[in-house]
Amino acid sequence: MIKTTVTILAVTLSAATASAGMFSNGPTLLEAKCAVCHPSSKVKVLKRTPAQWDAIVTNMMKRGAKLNPEEKKSLVDYLAQTYKPSGK
Ligand code: HEC
Repeated sequence: MIKTTVTILAVTLSAATASAGMFSNGPTLLEAKCAVCHPSSKVKVLKRTPAQWDAIVTNMMKRGAKLNPEEKKSLVDYLAQTYKPSGK
């Protein structure tokens, strides 16, 4: 009985940690939220500024991409850092 309670607590805690740690999961978000309609390669070939990524993701959310505000921020940050215009 005590053992069962401890197990349930451990599972609950790790689930809470997973949803709180939504900040550095850009690659996961990209595959999970964006690659449902088109391959993520469509995204990865681009080089855009942070403002442009924000606009792209906002546009895709209007088309049906499902991201909450935190996920949107994580994804835009990740895209902006990873796929940015090379210094001109
Ligand atoms: C509900 C379906 C859907 C989802 C989800 C979706 N897209 Fe799209 N996306 C489209 C459609 C439709 C187009 C336009 C047709 C095409 O080019 O394939 C497109 C085109 C694009 C383009 C090409 C624009 C260009 O300038 O060539 C990019 C970049 C893009 N999406 C990024 C994303 C990102 C990033 C996400 C995740 C936040 C995402 N998409 C999620 C439907 C979707």
